[in-house]
Amino acid sequence: MKSARLLLPFAAARFAVLATVQVVTPSANHDLLLLAKPGALARVTESPIPMQPQVAMACASVRMPGHSQLLPKPAAVFQVYVTPAAVTAMTAPKPAFPVGTILLKQKFSAANAQEPELYTGMLKQEKGFNPDCGDWEFFTLNGTGTAVTARGKIESCMECHKSYPQSDFVTRDYPIKLPAPPAKKP
Ligand code: HEC
Repeated sequence: MKSARLLLPFAAARFAVLATVQVVTPSANHDLLLLAKPGALARVTESPIPMQPQVAMACASVRMPGHSQLLPKPAAVFQVYVTPAAVTAMTAPKPAFPVGTILLKQKFSAANAQEPELYTGMLKQEKGFNPDCGDWEFFTLNGTGTAVTARGKIESCMECHKSYPQSDFVTRDYPIKLPAPPAKKP
């Protein structure tokens, strides 16, 4: 009866969705969904950034659920979020993102869109998980962030991200604005 229970959250009031999903999601994805939430991460982009047309074009060949759905939307924008502990790696000259780091790219069909269309994300796994690409696991989430639509050593994602070994396979290819650091003792 899993399918019937899965439908319930969508019928329920919006604020109830999360609580219900926590019950029905398979445990592995459940952990990812809990961690991969913009609210639990630090935003490192100051405002929505237009998707680069050449990236959008290359995405056309990526056969991932939802991945190319923004292609006909030239006004698509994105924001990037990262685990608080990995914020400094976003601007470090030779970053090594700690195990457990989550990077989330939140994609909107247009700058004035209220709800995201989808998320793409990266999760730093233990050493040896994915030696070809910095031990990152790649994943995609639906627009409400309540379902994992794909995850793993996704070849199509790595085709591009492998070109960024000098920054631990994180592109950082957009203006980065770090959130204000917590007050430090002198
Ligand atoms: C066509 C090349 C390309 C492919 C394929 C691609 N990416 Fe990216 N990715 C980029 C670029 C370039 C950026 C920088 C933002 C931008 O310009 O859109 C980026 C940014 C990101 C970010 C933000 C962190 C960072 O690297 O700066 C995440 C997370 C991400 N991609 C995940 C994924 C996932 C998951 C997939 C596969 C479903 C994927 N990407 C496929 C090129 C690609």
